[in-house]
Parts: sequence; C-alpha cells; structure tokens
Amino acid sequence: MKSIIVSMVAAAGLVVAGSALAADMPPEGKAKCGACHAIDKKVVGPSFNDIAAKYKGDKEAASKIAANVTKGGAFGWKLGMMPPKGMGATEAEIKSMSAFIAGLAK
Ligand code: HEC
Repeated sequence: MKSIIVSMVAAAGLVVAGSALAADMPPEGKAKCGACHAIDKKVVGPSFNDIAAKYKGDKEAASKIAANVTKGGAFGWKLGMMPPKGMGATEAEIKSMSAFIAGLAK
C-alpha cells in the first residue's frame, strides 16, 4: 500500500515537471492576445509556434514581430485582421510577447 502511494506521488511530480518544460503563455499574452492566439494551435489568429517558424533564423525576429503587433493588419496568413496592439497591450507587453514568440522557434 505504501509503495502505491509513493509511486502515485512520484507520477504526479512527473506530470508537474513535464508541464513546466513546455512553454506556457505569459500572463500578458493570456490577457491581451489569448482570445485569438494560442501557442500550439490556430484560434482566430495563427499559433505562436507557426509565427515563430515564419521568423526562424531571423536575427530581427523579435523587433519585426513587435512592429507588426503594434500596427496590426494582415500579414499573409489569410485569417483576417490582427487588431493593432491586440487587446490594448502596452509597448512593454508587446515587446515581451514578441521576444517570447521569437523564442519559440526551434
Ligand atoms: C481579435 C483577435 C486578435 C487578437 C486579440 C490578437 N491577434 Fe494577433 N493576429 C490575429 C489574426 C487574425 C492574425 C492573422 C492576420 C493574417 O491573416 O495575416 C494575427 C497575426 C499575428 C501575428 C503574425 C504577424 C506576422 O508577422 O506574421 C503576430 C506576431 C500576432 N498576431 C501577435 C499577437 C499578439 C502578441 C497579440 C497580443 C498583444 C495578438 N496578436 C492579439 C488576431 C488577433
């Protein structure tokens, strides 16, 4: 019995460790972008992983992404229009989210 409990606790610990490894949407991303974007799947806009892939290898990725998020519009995804600054993101939030997105490139 005791060993069952120990292994259950160990398994739960593994689940927590596993989810900590996967990139998690930062709080400002949830609040200002999450209605339309997810990290790993298309919602209204493209997934952040797909956007990271588009800019993979581009040293200017974070600043180009930030410029596009700030001005909004269409960027060739054919999904519609991205609202300027998402849902009212500040310049600092746009900067941190753009670095986060660029950092998802594998
Ligand atoms: C109301 C929905 C909506 C919200 C909110 C939104 N987006 Fe978007 N976003 C879109 C759509 C739709 C597109 C795709 C436009 C197209 O079809 O080209 C897009 C495209 C993008 C792109 C692609 C730019 C490129 O260069 O290809 C980035 C980066 C992006 N969004 C980041 C963000 C960030 C960061 C936020 C939060 C601050 C955010 N979006 C909030 C709808 C949204």
